[in-house]
Amino acid sequence: MTVQKALIPVAGLGTRFLPATLATPKVMIPVIDKPPVHFCVEEASLAGIDHTVLVVSPGQESIAQYFNRRLDLESALVQRGKDELAQTIRLISQMSDVSVVVQEKQLGLGHAVLSAEGAIGNNPFAVFLPDDLILSESPTIGQMVDISEKNEGMVIALKKVPDEDLSQLGVAEVKNTKKRISEIMSLVEKPSLESAPSNLAVIGRYILTKEIFDSIRDLKPGALGEIQLTDGIASLLGKIPCSGYEFEGEHFDVGTPLGMLKASVYIGIRRRDLKSKFTQWISDLN
Ligand code: UTP
Repeated sequence: MTVQKALIPVAGLGTRFLPATLATPKVMIPVIDKPPVHFCVEEASLAGIDHTVLVVSPGQESIAQYFNRRLDLESALVQRGKDELAQTIRLISQMSDVSVVVQEKQLGLGHAVLSAEGAIGNNPFAVFLPDDLILSESPTIGQMVDISEKNEGMVIALKKVPDEDLSQLGVAEVKNTKKRISEIMSLVEKPSLESAPSNLAVIGRYILTKEIFDSIRDLKPGALGEIQLTDGIASLLGKIPCSGYEFEGEHFDVGTPLGMLKASVYIGIRRRDLKSKFTQWISDLN
C-alpha cells in the first residue's frame, strides 16, 4: 500500500496573487529563489515518493519544464566555476519523474484531482497544495504515509488555527487524539465560528485512496459550479478510515502576499548566504 505518486494541482486562477498571476502561474512565484512547486516535489522526494503528476490549466504545461535536466545550463555554470550551483540545478531534475495532466476547465480542486485519475491509478497517493508551505525537519508527507500504512486509509494534515481564521478554511471534527493523530469524524468547509466543530483546520497535504475518484464523480457542483475535494473526502468518512495528523513544523500560506512575505522573511533570516546582511538591514529599518 506504499504511496508512490504525488499529485499537485496547480490549475487554479490564483486570484489572490493578481496581477502577478496574469503572466506567471502562482506555483512559480518564488519564495526568495525557490518556487512553491519545488518545495512540494522536494518534500515528496525526501519521503521516497518519486513520481509527480502536475494538474495544470490549458497553456501552462511548461511548468513541468522546471524539472527537466538542463545540460546546457549545467555546463555553462561549470565553465564559470559555479560547480555547486550546477550540482543544485542537476539535483532538481533528479528529484522526481514529472508528468502533466491538463484540467480543461477550472471546476474546483475536487475536479482537478479527478482529472488525474488515469495518471494516478489504483494505489494510495499523496496530494500537495503548493499554497501550503511546510518547513520541518522530516517531511510532513512522510509521516502521513506512515500513518496511512497503519490505518490503511486516508490521512489529512491538520493545524490549530485561531478562531478568526476558521470561516475561511475546512475544519475537522476529531476524536481519539493520540500523539498528534486523530480519527476524523466530520469535515465542514468554511464554517461560522459558532458551527465550527474544533480549531483544527485542513492544510494542503493529503493521503488519499482510489475510492476518492468515485466519490468526487458523485458530487454535485457547489455555488460557483466548483467541485470540492473536502466534499469528496467527507462522503467517504465512515466507509474508509480517515486520520488527521497535526503536523510539526512551520506552516505558511504562500498563496497570499502576506503569507509569501512571512515565508520569505522566515527563510531569509535563517539562510546562511542571506541572514547576516538581511537581519542587519531589518534592524536598520527601525
Ligand atoms: P484555491 O482555492 O486556493 O484557488 O485552490 P487558487 O486558484 O489557487 O487561488 P485563489 O484563491 O484564486 O487566489 C487550491 C488548489 O487547487 C488548485 C489550485 O491551483 C490550488 O493549488 N485548483 C483549484 C486546481 O488545480 N483547479 C481548480 O479548478 C481549482
